[in-house]
Amino acid sequence: MLAKFFHFNYRYILKPILFCFDPEQVHDFFTVVGESLGRSALTRWLTSLFFGYQHPSLEQSILGLKFTNPVGLAAGFDKDARLTAILPAVGFGFEEVGSITGEACQGNPRPRLWRLPKSQSLIVHYGLKNAGAEVLVQKLRDHRFAYPLGISIAKTNSPATVEVTAGIADYLKVYKIFLTAGVGDYFTINISCPNAYGGLPFTDLARLDLLLGEFAKIPKTKPLFIKMPPDLEEEKLAAIILLAEKYKIDGFVCTNLTKDGNGANLQLKEPRPTDKGGVSGKALAPLAEKQLRLIRQKTGNKFILIACGGIFSAEDAYRKIKAGASLVQLVTGLIFEGPQLIGEINRGLVKLLTQDGYQNISEAIGVDYKKEIGQV
Ligand SMILES: Cc1cc2nc3c(=O)[nH]c(=O)nc-3n(C[C@H](O)[C@H](O)[C@H](O)COP(=O)(O)O)c2cc1C
Repeated sequence: MLAKFFHFNYRYILKPILFCFDPEQVHDFFTVVGESLGRSALTRWLTSLFFGYQHPSLEQSILGLKFTNPVGLAAGFDKDARLTAILPAVGFGFEEVGSITGEACQGNPRPRLWRLPKSQSLIVHYGLKNAGAEVLVQKLRDHRFAYPLGISIAKTNSPATVEVTAGIADYLKVYKIFLTAGVGDYFTINISCPNAYGGLPFTDLARLDLLLGEFAKIPKTKPLFIKMPPDLEEEKLAAIILLAEKYKIDGFVCTNLTKDGNGANLQLKEPRPTDKGGVSGKALAPLAEKQLRLIRQKTGNKFILIACGGIFSAEDAYRKIKAGASLVQLVTGLIFEGPQLIGEINRGLVKLLTQDGYQNISEAIGVDYKKEIGQV
């Protein structure tokens, strides 16, 4: 009831007002509000009264981590880890902070975020703005979090990290600092930011081999994921999967923003206001889902898959789960639909699972693929 009330108010009153303002300013404003609400037990409790939803059929244990529900906040919304206290009360089952880089970075010049309302998408050209590994590890150390906290690692957006060895050193700096401090429940290596100086050097196979080789030299105590670009030919995807097997990567986040501005799979319903940046949201969804299904087909259940890209409803999340995702993440859906969306997705998932006769979400993961190969 409360969720329906909030849904109506967000869609018809708050969003039309918010969408009159600069998207980055709105984002910054909500970060300040969320950070303040997270400071007191009372406001956290009130927030969870409005938005929280729990159900045993959504609980899973994955790679030793306990998830109370499968809906996470994707990297990029909480770049400087300011929302870790409030997001569990909003109903999220996990969060990925960052991406965090070796050095602090101001990101690209503004404007660097645009809305595409008809396409229910965003164009993002932030360029990995964040306070840097040293500052953020200090901020997060000695805190206990109410859900699994993922640390998204990228290399600093600067000419100084373009050379391969310097780029690898920058990634490893973040990884080592957080591992040593015991901060973070899992790590994601972001090789797919479309907005950093020097492009996406680590989607090149030889360089990725070097990067993962260096990560593998450090004893792995936490699960390690790779965040994939959606714009990969099938052959390259297969080669990346082989490298992930070689270096015992636990899974993939499918996917990051697409660089493919006018691709046939990109469902843009309006002209792009800029050539810069990468596209998120509904326009990205078919590309991201195609990759998720391909990885599942190629690898069975060897890897844990986290779906990301255009998840706006329980139906979207459930489709990704049946396609092979154990967890889902979102940013754009939250911006277009409002904070009650997380509870709505979780509530809707319980209904969909019940309709299909599943006791727990884990039974639904990858059923499309299992049907294809005649396992169910
Ligand atoms: C404003 C914004 C900033 C982002 N920054 C990052 C980032 O720093 N690191 C990263 O891995 N992905 C970043 N992303 C990509 C998202 O994590 C996600 O992969 C993408 O937006 C697709 O999901 P969505 O359609 O639910 O937004 C960003 C996305 C947005 C919208």
